[in-house]
Amino acid sequence: MSRQNGEPISDAYQAWLRYVRLKPELAKEYSSWCGAAIVVASEGAPLLATARKELAAGIESMLGFAPQESEQSQGNENSGQEGFLLIGTLGEKELQNVASESERSALGSEGYLLRTVEEPGRRFIAIAGNTDRGALYGAFHFLRLMQTGQPIRGLNVVERPAGSLRMINHWDNMDGSVERGYAGRSIFYLDGVFREDWGRIRDYARLMAAIGLNAVSINNVNVHETETRLIAPELLPTVAKAAGVFREYGVRLYLSINFASPMELGELGTADPLDPQVRRWWAERAADVYRHIPDFGGFVVKADSEFRPGPFTYGRDHADGANMLADALRPHGGIVVWRCFVYDCLQDWRDRTIDRARAAYDHFRPLDGKFADNVVLQIKNGPVDFQVREPASPLFGGMQATNQLLELQITQEYTGQQKHLCYLVPQWKEVIDFDTCAIGEGSTVAKAATGELFGRPVGGFAGVANIGDESNWTGNPLAQANYYGYGRLAWRPELTAEQITDEWVKLTFGDDPGVVETISRMLLESWSIYENYTSPLGIGWMVNPGHHYGPNVDGYEYSLWGTYHYADSRGLGVDRTVRTGTGYAGQYHGAPAAIYESVESCPDELLLFFHHLPYSHVLKSGKTIIQHIYDSHFEGVEQAEGLIVSWRGLEGKIDGERYESVLSRLKLQAKHAAEWRDVINTYFYRKSGVPDAHNRTIY
Ligand code: GCU
Repeated sequence: MSRQNGEPISDAYQAWLRYVRLKPELAKEYSSWCGAAIVVASEGAPLLATARKELAAGIESMLGFAPQESEQSQGNENSGQEGFLLIGTLGEKELQNVASESERSALGSEGYLLRTVEEPGRRFIAIAGNTDRGALYGAFHFLRLMQTGQPIRGLNVVERPAGSLRMINHWDNMDGSVERGYAGRSIFYLDGVFREDWGRIRDYARLMAAIGLNAVSINNVNVHETETRLIAPELLPTVAKAAGVFREYGVRLYLSINFASPMELGELGTADPLDPQVRRWWAERAADVYRHIPDFGGFVVKADSEFRPGPFTYGRDHADGANMLADALRPHGGIVVWRCFVYDCLQDWRDRTIDRARAAYDHFRPLDGKFADNVVLQIKNGPVDFQVREPASPLFGGMQATNQLLELQITQEYTGQQKHLCYLVPQWKEVIDFDTCAIGEGSTVAKAATGELFGRPVGGFAGVANIGDESNWTGNPLAQANYYGYGRLAWRPELTAEQITDEWVKLTFGDDPGVVETISRMLLESWSIYENYTSPLGIGWMVNPGHHYGPNVDGYEYSLWGTYHYADSRGLGVDRTVRTGTGYAGQYHGAPAAIYESVESCPDELLLFFHHLPYSHVLKSGKTIIQHIYDSHFEGVEQAEGLIVSWRGLEGKIDGERYESVLSRLKLQAKHAAEWRDVINTYFYRKSGVPDAHNRTIY
């Protein structure tokens, strides 16, 4: 890691790239393979230099010596005794025999293989891809195997990412604030200008590349005045510097743009996507961006959403808007990432026929097939807005002729704002594995989003970053696990939550079995603990308006935002059935539509998302809804207190900085969980008049 003005680099700053010295036995085994690192490179493979640098630094840190460097495999002087690493692209003659033709084509442009080759007179581990990018990802995989103590003899790893786009969205503003950020100020900007702390950005790019992320948008989707100028001539040179740093690690830079830029920057009187002047303006702007940044990724667009400008102003639709930008970017190989978070945020709470959950599907489904090939629609995991529990968005599977990305919120806006421990990988796994049944069984969201299901050219994941300028990146050191887990799932959605957790804990805290067991358990249980003491059974919201922290059952109940629970003295929940409700359940295909439509088959955890029911309704668990509310809230607080006890058991086993930082947050969490419990239980006790079967204190 390059930074930290002479201060020692902390464990927390190094995150999953600590490369701690290995125990002697393991070190001995690995050393016999790492005597030299030989790069076979042709011209135009700059990421191989990065791969070599990373391998050299990681190995030196873990083994205590740096591998010898050489350009050719014949240079190995150890006559077969000492193994070496052979890093490069599979087209090079030294690596040609390492992979078969069919393996090479299976690796695609970003995949890699790690393979042990033992031949008379020499033995080596090949770290190679069809491209230098593949080799770089392979190098990080190899280092991860070492740091987690995996055997490297007889290695035969072949991997390629599930989707082509594995993106991070930063919601950073140039004044230094981060919308929904809980880890300090922006790492990119302060007081209206770039911070130009390129050392830190480079360290960040390393963290991204190590988990296979390949794209980053560096400004908030809500593009305000200053940020509108990021595509203007005066700011592009600095944007280009940022792009250059990310490029060293194979990460392409994107910008969020303001749909009204032609008016705000171009002095045009309109931003109508079908107006020839507007189209010309964007084409020229795009060309200028590419003059500065030849590998620029493209534009991220939030249009006609939460007061952002968009094509609706001109009576045009989202396809008109997106395709106009796509035309401007196409000659340069860029893409448009167009967000589907579009709904009426001036809703009348009295009108129970309007349903915000329906909005994305209602807007975009009719446009399926109308978007250009270099447009990708970015769809939030659920139909509303990153609540602790939502069903998967029906747009996955609903859009069959359009590129898609699954948008996940890594930053914990509604899930405890990095004060509470809420590890989101288990939540994301449920969405990723959800079977849309769009074209028969096995039509998972993962397959739809990555493009596999419908054979789309572009697809993958977008995650809203939880990163800030605090020295541990994420405020809560354990929130790093969410970022890490996001990257790993974007690469390989079929990984289990347990696999990812085990890997992250070992990389981040070492391999003491007690430490690994405790932290893994805490992480894996944390989402359900958070759900227990917050809003029940899929209903969502019940937070304080605006900042979205802490309980406020009616905070959004009589508001314009379309997020209601409809609780009265008899019951609560939103009827989203086709038969008697808003019809949202009918946006799913086949099995899920039927399952959600019926009270009998709808899973408990989503029951109030789909149905309005009396407090006396008996759940599959055998409890009434009201008793479930009481029980889960009492239990959730006990569990939150239990997290403190578990963590205390780690004192002395992990570094003091991270120990104290997490402990202080867990204490806050337990206190705030009790507040949630008492507010929710009291609210529903007063509404329903039903006492707790166990006579516990409710106010
Ligand atoms: C949420 C969040 C906003 C954000 C929006 C979005 O509503 O509260 O801050 O701008 O999502 O995804 O665009």
